[in-house]
Amino acid sequence: MDVISVIRAKRDGHALGPEQIDWVIDAYTRGLVADEQMSALAMAILLNGMDRGEIARWTAAMIASGERMDFSVLDRPTADKHSTGGVGDKITLPLAPLVAACGAAVPQLSGRGLGHTGGTLDKLESIPGWRAQLSNAQMLEVLGDVGAVICAAGDGLAPADKKLYALRDVTGTVEAIPLIASSIMSKKIAEGTGSLVLDVKVGSGAFMKSLDDARELASTMVGLGTDHGVRTVALLTEMSTPLGLTAGNALEVRESVEVLAGGGPEDVVELTLALAREMLDAAGLPDADPAKALADGSAMDHWRRMIAAQGGDPDAELPVAREQHVLTATATGRLTRLDAYDVGVAAWRLGAGRARKEDAVQAGAGVELHAKPGQDVVAGQPLLTLHTDTPEAFDYALASLEGAYDIAAPGSDEAAAHRPTP
Ligand code: URA
Repeated sequence: MDVISVIRAKRDGHALGPEQIDWVIDAYTRGLVADEQMSALAMAILLNGMDRGEIARWTAAMIASGERMDFSVLDRPTADKHSTGGVGDKITLPLAPLVAACGAAVPQLSGRGLGHTGGTLDKLESIPGWRAQLSNAQMLEVLGDVGAVICAAGDGLAPADKKLYALRDVTGTVEAIPLIASSIMSKKIAEGTGSLVLDVKVGSGAFMKSLDDARELASTMVGLGTDHGVRTVALLTEMSTPLGLTAGNALEVRESVEVLAGGGPEDVVELTLALAREMLDAAGLPDADPAKALADGSAMDHWRRMIAAQGGDPDAELPVAREQHVLTATATGRLTRLDAYDVGVAAWRLGAGRARKEDAVQAGAGVELHAKPGQDVVAGQPLLTLHTDTPEAFDYALASLEGAYDIAAPGSDEAAAHRPTP
């Protein structure tokens, strides 16, 4: 087998055979196929696509490139959730302890933010002392003791994806549905969860900007999970405006703790409960009541134990950025649009995200929203507060917010079409 013939086949629009796929993934993982050759193949896949058979084989080859975890020693069913990523998407933080409080075990392998979307591990690292890196044995121990663990995937899990994802990120080949589906599902299947709920985001702040693409991604991933014996369901959820009222690491942890304490923004609570119900159903616990576990404090109790088990202090003060800048509303009326992508870019430019994998993030940086689409605003009153330790970033962040929102005149048809949120 030689890599050039595999690249040529995909370049010319042919389906790759099982032997070609197995060989190229294995050879790339072992360093026998060069990055530039794999980049050419990834671009050919982005341009010419893959059929379901190719995607299934590609995923299986990525799983086979590393180890598989096994949670069969646990005395309860496992349930995991994956979001395809968005702005202000902190749902994993309250969701994992909530579902654990309802009787499932939640092995949540999570990632870091890149570009305009935030990452769960970056958010949790703003809690003093908290560690993302656990060995497989430590992960199993926390899962057994607490019922929920959120940590980084070990190096042994789908190493082919680790290499390929980093390469796609710098070669403009992230947005290929076959590559996204196989990347996400190879890690989730190798992780060994019994059931999986996929939160596929659609809108300006998501990878998938159109409903058709989001549907295609969701059905591809559900098919892959089901074929590997993982009970998999997908929800398509809105990502055209940020989720909740914060985008940024410590800011989002604070909002998640509010949700666990029985408060927090309504959209965050609603999505957390919807995903919890799906996870519990998929795990075979349809009678569990997540709303009760939020209200009676048991979800908060699991959060505190989960954070402490990974070295974090759940009572510690969260970092606050050194400088704030308030952006005020330019008109009085109804906020009809606040763009998720623009807010995500602003948070990133303020220091909440990284431009390169090796960059550090600022714990306190980000954007706080004072109104959501559908709410009325008054000219001169705060609309957004920007937070950073590096005030020279304000102008750069503000530039990304030009044109990020629309305010419709009071009484106009446009205002009437955007009802206030209840
Ligand atoms: N998340 C992943 O893990 N892989 C992708 O390809 C995209 C998002």
